[in-house]
Amino acid sequence: MQRGNPWPQLGSDVLIAPSLLASDFARVGEQIDQLAAAGAEVLHLDIMDGHFVPNLSMGPPFVKSIRKYTELPLDVHLMLTDPATYIERFAEAGADSITFHVEADADHVRLIERLRELGLGTGVTLRPGTPAEALAGLAGAVDMVLVMTVEPGYGGQEFMENMLEKIAAVRGMLKAGQRVQVDGGINPRTAALCSAHGADVFVAGTDVLGSGDITGAVRALRQAARKARPADEPAVPPHE
Ligand code: DX5
Ligand code: ZN
Repeated sequence: MQRGNPWPQLGSDVLIAPSLLASDFARVGEQIDQLAAAGAEVLHLDIMDGHFVPNLSMGPPFVKSIRKYTELPLDVHLMLTDPATYIERFAEAGADSITFHVEADADHVRLIERLRELGLGTGVTLRPGTPAEALAGLAGAVDMVLVMTVEPGYGGQEFMENMLEKIAAVRGMLKAGQRVQVDGGINPRTAALCSAHGADVFVAGTDVLGSGDITGAVRALRQAARKARPADEPAVPPHE
């Protein structure tokens, strides 16, 4: 795959995006090899500033190391109060797509323009308490909307079923080809629920990397998401 905005290059089938937050950082290369062999299309990187969310995770040097290691597209989820100050640093580190929070303190329209100027995929995301209406004026301009299905900040939390209506509402705001991503508490059961409501990119940390069977977990997620997909959205090209 060529570098740059990955989303148009990834077809229209459901996509599995494991979150490296749940990886063993001392063995992350080996685990990326397993994820790639299992057919994961995208790697999801969770960036936390200890302010927007009460947790810290990784920064640009980690992204840079992963970029050197793998050809898989890097989908960077910025849980930052001030994303505008950092997007160039993550772009230089090798991000292919950057998602920022609509609750962040920034000129959202300008942020999207800058991501486009950098040639990156562009995503916007909503905390669970933020309504879909907060996307007004933005939804048409992004490649992807991420509907958080847990409160951002930590892996291993329980999926919030009351986000399903929001997933459907967001899907209704988007055109064909724009993606709806879900993140938090995703496993085959919850992926199926999200898929039935219009999600097509599935971030999963604990379910995939905490399972001891990366290959089986990726396959089970994909099968569940595909099976539940609304019939009017055919999955092409088939992945396996
Ligand atoms: C939470 C992160 C998620 C998290 C998902 O703030 O955005 O990507 O790693 O982890 P699981 O799949 O364990 O809920
Ligand atoms: Zn995330």
